[in-house]
Amino acid sequence: MNRFLLVILFLFFALGAFAMGQKAVVNLDEYLLSNTKSGYTNVMVEDMVFSWKLQGQDIFVKIFAPLEGWLAIGFDPAEKMKGADYIIGIISNGAPMINEHYGDNPYGHKSIVLLGGKDLTGNKEGLENKDGTMIGFSIPQDPQDNFHKKLLPGSTHKVILAYGADKNMKARHAKRYIIEIKL
Ligand code: HEM
Repeated sequence: MNRFLLVILFLFFALGAFAMGQKAVVNLDEYLLSNTKSGYTNVMVEDMVFSWKLQGQDIFVKIFAPLEGWLAIGFDPAEKMKGADYIIGIISNGAPMINEHYGDNPYGHKSIVLLGGKDLTGNKEGLENKDGTMIGFSIPQDPQDNFHKKLLPGSTHKVILAYGADKNMKARHAKRYIIEIKL
């Protein structure tokens, strides 16, 4: 085997090993563009992204935060964190673990199921890599209980977003934000 062939073979294996060691990268511009192409409206909230689209009877939501840890969204708190409908998630062993909570006090939330409600999230998806974490889900626009919010076209909402320093969902946020949106 001549030297040229050896160099080519070395480069081939070296590049292959490098590629295998890399995780897929969330390029933020590509992420925003692909959301837009699939009908989402993106809202940049400092270092988080909140994306939503109304489809059929549901609202589809995606949130992104620049860490490998928990991230969450809450709709319409009444006082501080109290009264909000929360969707909170992590990626656990590569799979999204996404659950609905309710703000039972101004500085906390509990599983909506433990509080006697029903978790209405569906279409769960998620992705995590060195650039951050994304979770996505759908919930009905017009739920009929006291835990959920009516997220109907044209309505305005206070939306809160937060992420933790790691995957311990019992630990308080590293960052939290408050915005208002019109659907
Ligand atoms: C175990 C979980 C959590 C704990 C222990 C916790 C605790 C607290 C505490 C002590 C405060 C007051 C201090 C501050 O303003 O930073 C606060 C405020 C706040 N939290 Fe949380 N939090 C948790 C989860 C969340 C989640 C999941 C969200 C949003 C999705 C969130 C959103 C907020 C917001 C927006 C405020 C400011 C409220 C205001 O001043 O009107 N929190 N939280």
